[in-house]
Amino acid sequence: MKKLLAPSILNADFTNIAQQIRYVELGGADWIHCDIMDGHFVPNLTFGPYIVKAIKKSTNLIVDSHLMISNPDSLIEDFIEAGSDYVTVHQEAVVHLDRTLNKIKDLGAKAGVSINPSTPVSFLYEVLEIVDLVLIMSVNPGFGGQKFIQNSVKKIQQLYKFRSENNLNFLIQVDGGVNKNNIEQISDAGCDVFVVGQSIFKNDNITASTIELKNLIS
Ligand code: DX5
Ligand code: ZN
Repeated sequence: MKKLLAPSILNADFTNIAQQIRYVELGGADWIHCDIMDGHFVPNLTFGPYIVKAIKKSTNLIVDSHLMISNPDSLIEDFIEAGSDYVTVHQEAVVHLDRTLNKIKDLGAKAGVSINPSTPVSFLYEVLEIVDLVLIMSVNPGFGGQKFIQNSVKKIQQLYKFRSENNLNFLIQVDGGVNKNNIEQISDAGCDVFVVGQSIFKNDNITASTIELKNLIS
């Protein structure tokens, strides 16, 4: 599968978000990753559908909304209307996961499911035939700039093996602490879509850091 770079705008300069997105576009980014946090499911509060709508208007890249929120069913439609191409919910935040994932697909978006570092991959086995994307959190969600949890590599390998053995075709995405020193190892383990925040946006040259990471996964 093609390896894709998805800069997370969580740590971008929001005083000029359109320009920040231009910088990563120039660096060859494939997606824009939107970290949605509600201050309840995770201890941080970020932004909602209105900002996603503005981001979607400012780029032709795929917009990927990662809902780190409780009761995501209540906002799925808003994020899809805002233009999200992918909507990812947390397995830990949803009681009827099969129903929620089918709702995302019925509304015309690609359906993703995410698991926290302490949640086993096996908790997803019953929905892997219907998902378009699985997001392995490699940090405890809530903040950018955290350290990559090394145990995540084993989970990526386990998911990759399950996908191959069952002839499935969902994308494997990793989010949290990804940088130029670990991205090749994460890629070798089976990751397809790399979410990177701090290592791109907290840099003097956003375009150059994007190019560097893109080259490491290509
Ligand atoms: C969860 C967020 C972050 C972010 C990536 O806390 O989802 O993982 O996207 O941030 P970095 O790349 O700075 O760890
Ligand atoms: Zn994320």
